[in-house]
Amino acid sequence: MPTIIAIDRAGQEHRLAADTGQSLMQVLRDNDLDVMAICGGCCSCATCHVYVADDWLTALDPQAPDERELVQDSPHFRAGPSRLSCQIPVTDRLDGLRVTLAPED
Ligand code: FES
Repeated sequence: MPTIIAIDRAGQEHRLAADTGQSLMQVLRDNDLDVMAICGGCCSCATCHVYVADDWLTALDPQAPDERELVQDSPHFRAGPSRLSCQIPVTDRLDGLRVTLAPED
């Protein structure tokens, strides 16, 4: 069971046990982190925006074009670390993944 390390908007660190097969968004939401995920994971709202720690960027699959376009529209977009957590499937190789919730748009 991978552990995800999530930093909330107050700067508090949370260590979350995640099931493989879930999306990162589901892990954050199920652990009561403040992720609205309005579209439910359909890649159409960007309210699941997170920043992935630099040393984890290469461990993730590349962004699909629709995710890239949507997250780039966020006023809090950062080239590189910005990802939509609903588009990141949890796998064992993401054990220790570190993300920070982006500010609400
Ligand atoms: S939950 Fe809507 S884009 Fe991720």
